[in-house]
Amino acid sequence: MQNRHLHEENRKSWNAATRAHNSHKKDQAAFLRGGGSTLFPEEIELLGSIEGLRLVHLQCNAGQDSLSLAALGAEVTGVDISDEGINFAQKLSIDSGIPAHFVRADVYEWLGGADPESFDIVFCSYGALCWLSDLDVWAQGVADILRPNGRFVCIDFHPFSMVFDEHFEITYPYFAGGEPLTWDDGVGDYVGLAGDALAPSGFIEGKTKYDNPHPVHEFQWGTAETLQALINSGMSIDLTREYPYSNGAKLFEDLIEVEGHRFTRPEGQPNLPLMWGVVARKIEVSG
Ligand SMILES: C[S@@+](CC[C@H](N)C(=O)[O-])C[C@H]1O[C@@H](n2cnc3c(N)ncnc32)[C@H](O)[C@@H]1O
Repeated sequence: MQNRHLHEENRKSWNAATRAHNSHKKDQAAFLRGGGSTLFPEEIELLGSIEGLRLVHLQCNAGQDSLSLAALGAEVTGVDISDEGINFAQKLSIDSGIPAHFVRADVYEWLGGADPESFDIVFCSYGALCWLSDLDVWAQGVADILRPNGRFVCIDFHPFSMVFDEHFEITYPYFAGGEPLTWDDGVGDYVGLAGDALAPSGFIEGKTKYDNPHPVHEFQWGTAETLQALINSGMSIDLTREYPYSNGAKLFEDLIEVEGHRFTRPEGQPNLPLMWGVVARKIEVSG
C-alpha cells in the first residue's frame, strides 16, 4: 500500500493522543450503561433509523460513538488503526454491556479484505477524511463492501475551515493535490482543551503534561474531490449539507461556543462552512 509509512506514523501519534484524550473523560462505561450517547443530532439525522442494520464505523477511535450507534440497535463493527483506540473500545464494550465488534487495522487493508456487499451502512465522522491518503482507493473500498442500495454516511469538519491556522489566518491550501501536510508535534490534546464539549460523560483534569513525540501526516481534500471519488466508485449522492458551526471543536480562536457544544463565528461576523455531511447510496445494477 502506498503511504503505509505515513499511516504507521499516524498510528503512533494517535496512540499517544488517544491515551491523553481518554484521561480527561469521567467513567465512560457508566455513562453509556446509563443510556448516555456521544452522538450529535446531525449524524443521527443523516443516518436515519439504523435499527437492525449492519453498520461499519470507519476510523472509530476509542469506540464511544460506535457503542452509541450500537445502542440505537445497529450491529456495529468499528475499525481503527490505533492500538490504544481499539483496546479501549473493546474494554468499553465489555464494561458498558453494549456489544460491538472492534478491529485494529489500517482502513485501506481492512476495506481490501472485507467481504463484498456485507454492510448496510458505512459511517465515518469528525476528523476522518483528513487521514485518507488516497480518496479513490478508499471510495472504491467503501462501495465494494456496501450491499446494493446500502448507504455511506459521513459528517466531518468542512475542508474550507482547514485553510485557517488557530489565529484565523489563511495559512493552508484548500487544493493540496494529495500532498501530505506534516505536523511535527503530532495529534494534539484537543479533548483537554475543549473541556466539557468533548467529554459528555464529564470532564476531569487527567493528563496535564502532554507532548506527542510522533509526527502526523494529514491530507486535505476539497468537498468536490470527496464527492467525485464517491460518484466514481458507483455511488449516487442522496444528500449533502453544510453547517455554519462545528460540533465539539473550536477549530480556531475566533469561534464562540453556543448551545449544544457547537462552535460558530461571533454574532455579526460573516458565517463560514465549518462542517459538512454527505449521504451516498450504492447504485443497484439491474439485470
Ligand atoms: C479524529 S479521530 C475520529 C474520531 C471518531 N469520529 C470517533 O467516533 O471517535 C480519527 C481517527 O482516524 C484514525 N485513523 C487515522 N488514519 C487511519 C488509517 N489509515 N486507518 C484506520 N484508522 C485511521 C485514527 O487512529 C483516529 O482514531
